[in-house]
Amino acid sequence: MERTRSWAEPYKIKMVEPVFMTTRKDREKFIREAGYNTFLLKSKDVYIDLLTDSGTSAMSDRQWAGIMMGDEAYAGSENFYHMEEAIQKYYGYKYVIPTHQGRGAEHLISQILIKKGDFVPGNMYFTTTRLHQELAGGTFVDVIIDEAHDSESDFRFKGNVNLEKLETIIKEKGADKIPYVCIATTVNMAGGQPISLENLKEVRKLTHKYNIKIVHDMTRVAENAYMIQQYEKGYKEKSVAEIVKEICLLTDAATMSSKKDALVSIGGFLAVNDPEVFEQARNLVVVYEGLHTYGGMAGRDMEALAIGIKESVQDDHIRARVGQVQYLGEKLKKAGVPIVNPIGTHGVFLDAKKFLPHLTQDMFPAQTLAAEIYVDSGVRTMERGIVSAGRNKTTGAHNYPKLELVRLTIPRRVYTQAHMDVIAESVEYVYNNRATIKGLKMVFEPKYLRFFQARFEKL
Ligand code: F0G
Repeated sequence: MERTRSWAEPYKIKMVEPVFMTTRKDREKFIREAGYNTFLLKSKDVYIDLLTDSGTSAMSDRQWAGIMMGDEAYAGSENFYHMEEAIQKYYGYKYVIPTHQGRGAEHLISQILIKKGDFVPGNMYFTTTRLHQELAGGTFVDVIIDEAHDSESDFRFKGNVNLEKLETIIKEKGADKIPYVCIATTVNMAGGQPISLENLKEVRKLTHKYNIKIVHDMTRVAENAYMIQQYEKGYKEKSVAEIVKEICLLTDAATMSSKKDALVSIGGFLAVNDPEVFEQARNLVVVYEGLHTYGGMAGRDMEALAIGIKESVQDDHIRARVGQVQYLGEKLKKAGVPIVNPIGTHGVFLDAKKFLPHLTQDMFPAQTLAAEIYVDSGVRTMERGIVSAGRNKTTGAHNYPKLELVRLTIPRRVYTQAHMDVIAESVEYVYNNRATIKGLKMVFEPKYLRFFQARFEKL
């Protein structure tokens, strides 16, 4: 009989950060004061923080040692060259421009490549990515496969592009109106879903035919590569590192939020292969981020990133990382809680429409559910539904996304299996008492990325 082994962590714990439990009464007050928006809670009032996997990873002892080796020179820091070398080695891009985080890179590439009136097809939107495309005068066009919008579909590669949709938009608008296709690995808003290499190769073929670039949002590329290794035919024997490289080599440029996959608290980069785009980006970065050898990052942070990139593509690491997320997802599924299928790689996504069927989307079911889970257990989650989707650029009406989700995002190397059990118990409890839950109304709405700062009151 074949033996199986659990996803146990390939590390041991050397230092801990105490966290504190609050009472239900406290939490009712805290969430009211936060306008029922989990982004506006104080971290000290949170027990288990699943708001995001962004910048919340635990760094390794090697990375902390790297922090001590920071070369904080304004120009030409040694750490920049280590980071550049790691990006070239593990991701294969030629030129690197550091930025303070992912959206800094999105800003630069959007300003350089997008003209007013352009269209940018992508495998589903991401909030900051689409906003930068729009601020540069472009219009985002969703070309992801339909399965991605269906929380029940079990399709393994929901991040795939619908090639017909893509070719139709190219023919309709003209290739000269499409500066690039934006491909995310994995697709965050679809529930952390991967794209297959087979599909990416087809996208490459099609974009070559029309001479269109691919810009890769590589925020969670190692997690995507792991799913390819596990589920795509022909990749069982390849390492995650090899698959990551293969993905990157199919694209022309990349924006990276190093705060996810790459295991650091802050940082990002733009990586490109075209020397002309590089020159433009290297010039523009000094306007918005900082000199081209730090771009808003401290030297020490660039060193931690150089080390984090290497750790992030190790098979053992990624197996345990995704394994922990799958563990939580399976537990919730067994309890009958409606979640997005298949379970994603960076978090478990609750289907708020099914969880709270008595609330219409105007009552913000995902926002409501995130607040309820916090009140129950001090577990902080995030809305990924109508509030995140914002308003239509032309009509000003709410965008009504098919997916109305609450994201339980798991930080890397931070929480234990017992934490996962507590989270599952709390979500189950809220689910069993769902009939009593009432919706919310929005009482304050900021202009940009409203989900971060919007405020609500109970209906
Ligand atoms: N692209 C994707 C797919 C992301 O998930 C994020 C950030 C960004 C770009 C922007 O990067 O935050 O470094 O500026 N996602 C975070 C999250 C905020 O919680 O999912 P950033």
